[in-house]
Amino acid sequence: SAHSDLIHKLPKAELHLHIEGSFEPEMMMTLAERNRIDIPFKTLDEAKAAYDFNNLQEFLDLYYQGMNVLRTEQDFHEMTFAYLQRAKADNVVHVEMFFDPQAHTERGVAFGAVTEGILGALERGEKELGITSELIMSFLRHLSEEDGFVLLDESTPWHEHFVGVGLDSSEVGHPPLKFQRLFERCRELGFKLCLHAGEEGPPEYVREALLDIGADRIDHGNRAMEDPALIEILRDTQIPLTNCPLSNLSLCVLDDLRKSPVKRQLEEGLLVCVNSDDPAYFGGYIGQNYEAITEALELSSDQIVQLAKNSFTGSFLPDDQKTKHV
Ligand code: ADE
Ligand code: ZN
Repeated sequence: SAHSDLIHKLPKAELHLHIEGSFEPEMMMTLAERNRIDIPFKTLDEAKAAYDFNNLQEFLDLYYQGMNVLRTEQDFHEMTFAYLQRAKADNVVHVEMFFDPQAHTERGVAFGAVTEGILGALERGEKELGITSELIMSFLRHLSEEDGFVLLDESTPWHEHFVGVGLDSSEVGHPPLKFQRLFERCRELGFKLCLHAGEEGPPEYVREALLDIGADRIDHGNRAMEDPALIEILRDTQIPLTNCPLSNLSLCVLDDLRKSPVKRQLEEGLLVCVNSDDPAYFGGYIGQNYEAITEALELSSDQIVQLAKNSFTGSFLPDDQKTKHV
């Protein structure tokens, strides 16, 4: 597009990325062979054909199945470094990355193997690619609050390595309030709180995340736009919204990207930024997300620059490092 050059050159932060969602089918096939694990497809075409979702749950079923071939620290390192190389190609200079430890420990993979694999690659990414990073440990909301407390406890030796905690997986039926005591404890421990809310779930879930939990960031937040009072809160507090355009399209949160709330959120003065969520599954990394939303909403160059600035303002970087970019 006319803005491709600008989109590519702008330094960007990625704030909503599930590292397991960057697991490309090609690498999945390689690791399946190395670890001698069966997967339900033999070719890239077969994999891509399966990535045709009608809703969040259909995606999640494949997402959890795909990560089943991840077994060793090296597997997690390779997946993470491959993402960082892709991010580098899009001029991402800072990333705040989710991971889903319960989806691995539940399969008998040690928490330490998962975490050390990812942390080792992040360290290497800073040295070799100049990308700074933070890690966010996410709780699976289809599991119980008690399961979350078990994870929080088990992860104690690594707490200094996490900037925050997240809440993801199946949203409807699992409101933020289900995890109120867990997040209260996380806040006491000094973690930033990032909650997926208003992706498929109703505006009430965004309200709970903001007002009952005290979220520092809302992941997605699309459906907040249904409630004028929430829009006002988001404007006043400047709580960031991490929008994911190609994810919204893939998961049928939107039937057309022209209905994306991003432009209206910018016009209303909300702190929205653009992210890739699960790029291996949704057809594009962050650059392609900027391209797609720019084209669909006919964003101006000022609006594109604003989105990139918002990605730093909305990050957990210290203020002096934010201002290098905004
Ligand atoms: N886990 C990975 N991607 C997710 C998404 N878009 N929503 C909820 N949980 C997720
Ligand atoms: Zn997500």
